[in-house]
Amino acid sequence: MSGVINPKAPVGVCGIGRIGKLLVWYLAARGEHDQIVVSTGRKTGKGIDDLATYLGYDSTYGSFSRFVGGFRGGRAFEVRDGSLYLNGVKIVWLAEKEHRVPGNIPWSDNGVEVVFDTTGKMTDPTINDDNALRGHLNHAKRAVLSAPFKIKAKGTPLPEDAITLVGGVNFDRYDAAKHTVISNASCTTNCCAPPIKALVDHFGEKFISYSLTTVHAATNSQNVLDVLPKDGEKDTRKVRSTFNSMIPTSTGAANAVIEVIPEIRKLGIGSQASSMRVPTTTGSIVILDISLMGEFDDDYVNDIFKKYSAKNPDIMQYSTEQLVSADIIGSTHSAVYDSRFTHRRTSKRGDHYFTMVDLNFWYDNEFGYVSSLGRLYDLVTGRR
Ligand SMILES: NC(=O)c1ccc[n+]([C@@H]2O[C@H](COP(=O)([O-])OP(=O)(O)OC[C@H]3O[C@@H](n4cnc5c(N)ncnc54)[C@H](OP(=O)(O)O)[C@@H]3O)[C@@H](O)[C@H]2O)c1
Repeated sequence: MSGVINPKAPVGVCGIGRIGKLLVWYLAARGEHDQIVVSTGRKTGKGIDDLATYLGYDSTYGSFSRFVGGFRGGRAFEVRDGSLYLNGVKIVWLAEKEHRVPGNIPWSDNGVEVVFDTTGKMTDPTINDDNALRGHLNHAKRAVLSAPFKIKAKGTPLPEDAITLVGGVNFDRYDAAKHTVISNASCTTNCCAPPIKALVDHFGEKFISYSLTTVHAATNSQNVLDVLPKDGEKDTRKVRSTFNSMIPTSTGAANAVIEVIPEIRKLGIGSQASSMRVPTTTGSIVILDISLMGEFDDDYVNDIFKKYSAKNPDIMQYSTEQLVSADIIGSTHSAVYDSRFTHRRTSKRGDHYFTMVDLNFWYDNEFGYVSSLGRLYDLVTGRR
């Protein structure tokens, strides 16, 4: 089911963990829909009142009421006639066991056209199965994944109707008549791809290589305390206690960036990415080290991001403040460029100058990412 999407149709959200819950907050706060349909595929606590408490309060962002109305606002969530309302938007809750399987979820019966899958469990767009991402298309027009695609069968190409889209980078590749399965990539890719795109467009062949490290807040894929690694587990560091360590781990951001900026491969720009998990609840930073052919000073480099953020004000914020990660919580931008923390050094080999620049981009890996899903939703519904 391709074609035009009704922007007023209820939105579907499958899975209401960190990303799904905050997406519900975001959509309810926008107040453009009468209903949001959430599928948990299971009951929670003692029922609707416990769902209300879960969706009404958040350990990281405070209460939904304050999120919507500030300190002077009234209570913005209530259970009325057996249904939960957030900011007056009815939350239709699909909690039966059969709803655990995407292909069984009655999205269209509830008027839903676009579904966000935020479970993190169904990431392969090549599998034609009710119990896979594509299963959502049994009863919806679009399935949007809040994660990078992961194709299990090596060498299987991405299907024609699937695409990875990142705001500020390749939204122009979206074809409403063709694309029905869409990945919004990862939070890290949403942060680093826009500045890398700006650099590729600006420097072209003078851009030799980049290496990025994301210093990333904890997520629910980690463990509160140490656990015994599963049989065959490759990344045994990731099962260590979130509280006690900085935990080096891998990220798929390098490949994902090439997927959305194919010029990187064409120009032969070298790239590398890694990740360090740290014990904060949200708020992350991409440290992007780039090598350039030629001599460039800080002002020259800063100007590239000044122009990019002026052109893409919702994607990148240009900051001159001395920020720390706590300041980024609640940011709606995919990347906040920390211009005060840019370091550069130029060297000379023979007659050639080379400049290495250390660039830093903050991002709220949770709410910033949810905001990027919102921008993708605007694209899919023809609002942008
Ligand atoms: N957290 C971040 O910073 C971040 C940023 C960008 C992207 N992402 C990506 O977004 C995805 C979700 O991440 P998250 O941090 O939100 O994870 P999370 O907090 O673990 O949430 C996942 C939720 O999905 C539910 N779920 C699993 N299978 C389901 C099914 N079949 N039907 C309905 N609900 C189901 C889980 O509930 P149960 O308890 O019922 O299983 C859980 O509530 C991952 O792919 C992640 O990589 C995360």
